[in-house]
Amino acid sequence: MCGIVAYKGHKNCHPILLSGLKRLEYRGYDSAGIACINSNDKLVVTKRKGKVSELKSALSNSEIYNLGIAHTRWATHGKPNQLNAHPHLDQSKKIALVHNGIIENYDPIKKFLLSKKIKFKSETDTEVLVQLIGYFYNNGKMNFEQSVRAALQRVDGAFGIVILNTDYPDMMIAARKGSPLVLGIKENEFFIASDISPIVKYTKDIIYLKDSEMAVINKKSFKIKSVDKDISLPKNIEKIDFKIDDYDKGKYKYFMHKEIHEQINTIPNTINGRIKNESVLLQGLSDYWNIIESAEKIYITACGTSWHAGLIGKNFIERFANIPVHVEYASEFRYNHALIDSKTIVIAISQSGETADTLAAIRKANNHGALTIGICNIAGSSVSRETKCGVYTRCGHEVGVASTKAFTSQIVVLYLLALKLAESRKTISKESLKRHLDYKKSVNKIKSIFKQENDIKKIAKKYKKANDFLYLGRGLNFPVALEGALKLKEISYIHAEGYPAAEMKHGPIALIDKDMPSVFIAPKDKTYEKIISNIQEIKSRKGKIIVITDSKNDKVLKELANDLIVVPKTNHYAFAIFASIVLQLLAYHIALDKNLNVDQPRNLAKSVSVE
Ligand code: F6R
Repeated sequence: MCGIVAYKGHKNCHPILLSGLKRLEYRGYDSAGIACINSNDKLVVTKRKGKVSELKSALSNSEIYNLGIAHTRWATHGKPNQLNAHPHLDQSKKIALVHNGIIENYDPIKKFLLSKKIKFKSETDTEVLVQLIGYFYNNGKMNFEQSVRAALQRVDGAFGIVILNTDYPDMMIAARKGSPLVLGIKENEFFIASDISPIVKYTKDIIYLKDSEMAVINKKSFKIKSVDKDISLPKNIEKIDFKIDDYDKGKYKYFMHKEIHEQINTIPNTINGRIKNESVLLQGLSDYWNIIESAEKIYITACGTSWHAGLIGKNFIERFANIPVHVEYASEFRYNHALIDSKTIVIAISQSGETADTLAAIRKANNHGALTIGICNIAGSSVSRETKCGVYTRCGHEVGVASTKAFTSQIVVLYLLALKLAESRKTISKESLKRHLDYKKSVNKIKSIFKQENDIKKIAKKYKKANDFLYLGRGLNFPVALEGALKLKEISYIHAEGYPAAEMKHGPIALIDKDMPSVFIAPKDKTYEKIISNIQEIKSRKGKIIVITDSKNDKVLKELANDLIVVPKTNHYAFAIFASIVLQLLAYHIALDKNLNVDQPRNLAKSVSVE
């Protein structure tokens, strides 16, 4: 998704804006641009299709600017080209704007502006917004701030914007509704960005703008104001504790590879401090625990990988705590006739905390009086603010577009939540709870998965030319299969489908031939025998078989599988995590072998902040 960086201070803004845009590259984009105000109070705008490096080469270094806005665009309205890239200007060329989000009523506004003889240069909804601001500023006897407010009050949709005006060379205005913006504050310096990654290296003092808030920065001071009325609002300055390391690839070629390996530490980090005296502690839920423990029904809502974690969570909560759980894609939940009321708990899962559909689902649940719980990775994100309570996954910033470490930490949080519910509702014995919380041995075994990375690499090489893959698992491992297939699709562009292993006979089996590999997630559990039958069904149709199991020295599997990965034996629940890590590595090495950009797969964005 699009990214925004803006700076006002005493330093030269180009290096700050460029390094900020580089930090935002992980979100996915197709063009980039910068606008600065020079010492003659003129706008200097540079835009390029393609990478930030191309923008950098196109910038002239002959001037120093102390005020500038920059953007990476992920096309929604209009092709990805230089003309449609941001910043966009109004007709008078005094006002420049960068925008994340979508202006839904751009068409009637554009028609109105065209009737006022305003000419458009691009096909974007963003240009409509800046032209509307310009229209109010140039014709409405309004000052800069008033004209921004007047325009924003007339647009529907989502926006995170930063605006400059050459008549106000000391001023920068930012505003948000639905699309995140963060303000970083340092002595006489101000940083604005669509997430904290471009800001962390300069300051730890930040304000997460709330919906319908504006930051009006003027000379050396700033105000937080309302978009709806000309009133000042409190400045809620927070201290963030992000490590710059999260944005460094270290010895790895790709963030995704680094993040897969980080799971050795991120999984324990998600658990640390949350188990005490053989009990689960989830501080973020304590104020609402009496409502949560007596829930009659739970909905889990999320998108993509987080939705897969939700399916695993359903299995945990139903199994341990005997509460019925429905898992719905947030994009469906927001429009479905969901049966939610004040006795329903709605759990929203999101790595970024900014996914537009998940936020809409949360708002719907809040409006129906349900108690909303966020399971989220980013402190201060919209999900963490808009849910009533929540648990952070604490796995550090995830930069690779394909989610890896966030997925396994989400599973861990859901496991802890299910066990805590079971403990409170007395649906688990003390001995069983103790056994389930004795996770340390399992966690230590994660390291040994990476010892097999070379074997996984060889498997990747062997199958990288396949056009389709089938991923099959049962019970808890069905969502693991879905997630394995999603990882492969996203980064290798190979078509893959996940299915419950037994469902394969009801259709997908028609696809099987000698060129189609099937990946079985087959632990030695109560479904093992059934899975062996499914493997045989594929084998007899000449399909290639890759098996991930915890069954050591298994003669049957050795005989049936073309390729076998054996992970350490633990419990049923940890196996789902181990198998997920193997599937992440398999997808990664296939994509790497195909020479693809693993961290920034085509068409994908890290944080999907539009509907
Ligand atoms: C897949 C992936 C996406 C996200 C989805 C939800 O690797 O990253 O499917 O899981 O866009 O994102 P969050 O969890 O940030 O709400």
